[in-house]
Amino acid sequence: ATQPTRDDRFSFGLWTVGWPARDPFGDATRPALDPVESVHRLSDLGAWGVTFHDDDLVPFGTGHAERDRIIARFRGALDQTGLVVPMMTTNLFTHPVFKDGAFTSNDRGVRRFALRKVLRHLDLAAELGASTYVFWGGREGAEVDQAKDIRAALDRYREGIDLLAEYVKEQGYGIRFAIEPKPNEPRGDILLPTLGHALAFINELEHGDIVGVNPEVGHEQMAGLNYTAGIAQALWAGKLFHLDLNGQRGVKYDQDLIFGHGDLLNAFSLVDLLENGAPGGGPVYDGPRHFDYKPLRTEDVDGVWDSAAANMRTYLLLRERAAAFRADPAVQAALETSGVADLSRPTLSPGETVRDLLSDRTAFEDYDADKEAERGYGYAKLAQLALEHLLGAL
Ligand code: GCO
Ligand code: MN
Ligand code: MN
Ligand code: MN
Repeated sequence: ATQPTRDDRFSFGLWTVGWPARDPFGDATRPALDPVESVHRLSDLGAWGVTFHDDDLVPFGTGHAERDRIIARFRGALDQTGLVVPMMTTNLFTHPVFKDGAFTSNDRGVRRFALRKVLRHLDLAAELGASTYVFWGGREGAEVDQAKDIRAALDRYREGIDLLAEYVKEQGYGIRFAIEPKPNEPRGDILLPTLGHALAFINELEHGDIVGVNPEVGHEQMAGLNYTAGIAQALWAGKLFHLDLNGQRGVKYDQDLIFGHGDLLNAFSLVDLLENGAPGGGPVYDGPRHFDYKPLRTEDVDGVWDSAAANMRTYLLLRERAAAFRADPAVQAALETSGVADLSRPTLSPGETVRDLLSDRTAFEDYDADKEAERGYGYAKLAQLALEHLLGAL
């Protein structure tokens, strides 16, 4: 089952396969792709959904009539292929007007323009049946500590997200928001740099009930963080509304490699978590498997489609190996030795109080810490079993 099907719910951003590979140091190495062609090619490869920024489909500044024509043509491709649009988002970073941010620009006119730009695309999202709307605030940030009042910026960020969420509720769109954290690039420092910052921000919102996160593999890893662990916390908080799968090798610029072409062990534990839930139980992720990667700048158009297929195949291979890992009796024994399931047992018994704990001599007075410390947890064996399943050796 390494041939993708619609049931696998793989989705791709138009901006991923469509990236002409212009970077800060060099010109485009590929022609821009027609979004309609991308829809057909992705469909042929077995993808299920396509996602896009407003400007990916309708170039910035396009007039009304032309915009309608472009959207109608795009809808035609969706109808023909059966591809769905599970997520949409706004480009609030390319045009020079956003150079100091969008919702958090120091310029109030820019902030109002940004909100209008989102509102227009939100209406289209509702029309196309998107259930998630992503907010990646790439320009919300600064390079100069004195240039941005972070407290005021967070107030304006909250004002913007709450206003848009209120609009969605009033309109009855049924769309949920997903905030995508990133530590830096293009700004020197970006607001809501990590998943944890984003979750804390969401707690301060008035309409936080419809706001969750869209964590990207590479973005957490750019901050030196463990993506699988972050995803587990987002699931725990009930806030994993969407995700961006790709690859990254360590703390450096945003590489947007093919999924798995970075920290492969972490990709394995991620797929295991998404598909099978935590080892001690808990929710699995049932949203789109969305790829936000960039085909290498060295590739021609054939290489673009090879890379799109590679993302899905890698995910499916990891899914197969994760299933084998969970089913292996040796793994179950190793998990048992490691006490992984024991962590799901509450530390106090039902009805037990802090008074009861204080009077339990076995918990403290008679507890032989030195002796208990002799225990080994067997994690090395568990890690090697994971690696051997990943390699297909078991
Ligand atoms: C990046 C981001 C973007 C966002 C996209 C959708 O680092 O460039 O990951 O690709 O995901 O703007 O919000
Ligand atoms: Mn990225
Ligand atoms: Mn990127
Ligand atoms: Mn992303």
